[in-house]
Amino acid sequence: MVKNIAVLVSGGGSNFENLALKSAEAGFEIKILIADSPDAYAVKRAEKLNIPHIIIDRSKYSAKKEFETAVTEAVSNFNIDYIVLAGFMRILSAEFINFYKNRIINIHPSLLPSFKGRNGIEDAYNYGVKVTGVTVHFVDAGIDTGKIIAQTAVIIEEDETLLSLEEKIHQAEYELYPAALKKVLDGGV
Ligand code: GAR
Repeated sequence: MVKNIAVLVSGGGSNFENLALKSAEAGFEIKILIADSPDAYAVKRAEKLNIPHIIIDRSKYSAKKEFETAVTEAVSNFNIDYIVLAGFMRILSAEFINFYKNRIINIHPSLLPSFKGRNGIEDAYNYGVKVTGVTVHFVDAGIDTGKIIAQTAVIIEEDETLLSLEEKIHQAEYELYPAALKKVLDGGV
């Protein structure tokens, strides 16, 4: 049966768009896109793709709890099976994570547990590792610490630039994220 997902974003939304385009073959439907800022380009993509979307502007809420309550309310309007983070750059509270226990999934642009945090690609590049990659994982109360669902390695060549590495990482993400979601939804994780 097709599973319903909500996608949370903060920015460009290229992973969101990729998931939308591959949703039928991966067995899910994006019921709602939630952006935490009106500047998130992902909203434009949702308009073009005709996917319901809502902006819950984090800057309009003084407390994280109120922001998360608004997100929970938006999600509750749909029969959502999983919350999928795609470039969502905020740390969710333990309360929110527990509410959706084992039903929040994230993509991170490094081979976790290396290079956690906001700048996974750049941190790996600057460190000088020869292999980095992409990780899809369940979200737990730590930062980028939840159970790993799938990973892809990306080689950093001698003449690699940060830009070319970013491009390679994104291409790896576009393959890995729909496949990893499909695995979860099929009950394989
Ligand atoms: C992606 O590379 C994703 O892995 C990363 O943000 C980018 C979003 O790109 N997420 C994190 O770094 C989470 N810590 P997109 O908006 O074009 O999909």
